[in-house]
Amino acid sequence: MRKRVVVETLRDILSEDELPEVPAGVDVIGNIAIIKIPEKLERRKHEIGERLLSKMQGVKSVYRQSAPARQGDRVRGIEWLAGAKSTETCYREHGCTFQVDLSKVYFSPRLSYERARIARLVSDGEVVVNMFAGVGTFSILIAKNASPAHVYSIDNNPDAHRYAVLNCKKNRVECIVTPLLGDAKKYAEELGGIADRVLMPLPELAIEYLPSGIQFLKNEGAIHLYVHIIGGHKKKAVESAICEVLPHLEENSKVKQISGRLVRGVGSRRYQVAVDAEVEKLGKH
Ligand SMILES: C[S@@+](CC[C@H](N)C(=O)[O-])C[C@H]1O[C@@H](n2cnc3c(N)ncnc32)[C@H](O)[C@@H]1O
Repeated sequence: MRKRVVVETLRDILSEDELPEVPAGVDVIGNIAIIKIPEKLERRKHEIGERLLSKMQGVKSVYRQSAPARQGDRVRGIEWLAGAKSTETCYREHGCTFQVDLSKVYFSPRLSYERARIARLVSDGEVVVNMFAGVGTFSILIAKNASPAHVYSIDNNPDAHRYAVLNCKKNRVECIVTPLLGDAKKYAEELGGIADRVLMPLPELAIEYLPSGIQFLKNEGAIHLYVHIIGGHKKKAVESAICEVLPHLEENSKVKQISGRLVRGVGSRRYQVAVDAEVEKLGKH
């Protein structure tokens, strides 16, 4: 739900002074709506929740994002505002169904286009490794919408892993997707060069884990890294991301092609960028 619609929905319960404080939008994940509420509207939070609940079709619970996504498992803090007190829901995207508990795992509907874009890049018979897979979103979407030989779907959060196993069953891709519980770096050492394509959808660890990403590749392949660019102009974010990533890629591989895509804004003058590279491994791996 966009800001304009949120403002219209709340217009008759908030004052003219309060309306400009309304946040940029509401995320709807299955039947749960999540809104960020600024301090100035703190005392109105339950009324806001009730109003959204009554106006948003299909929404059964309204939660407030009370803390930013945690370092590590990226789970965001949420606080109940209205409706059913349940943080588990079922979300549908591009023909796939995902069961998630928003208090236990990371999940963002805002990556929907990006997940479909990556799935379109996968050629028949590829082996894909998803190093930071969450509940299996990218992995399952690829299995359902492309024809990979296999997808390894790694996450070190036991709850994310449990949901990934469940979601593979729900989407009938258990034979194609293998969820693995544990540290992606450890699996890179264990499994070595198995992949034609590696996904690294965790900006906080993208650079640190890049050598492991390359270690996962066969002699050559594609790698998709997600990074955050802080400051600077939006138009320059992709260029900045490539400049940041390229030297790290070149330490471990010969870069044959590199490009980027602005995925989304993640705060004031903060951007998430996907860097897509085709690389050839250097001898040392
Ligand atoms: C941003 S979320 C992934 C989102 C997912 N790709 C999606 O689209 O829903 C990053 C995930 O990486 C996991 N993670 C963090 N550190 C990790 C590590 N060292 N090895 C494997 N997974 C890790 C977290 O538990 C979290 O689920």
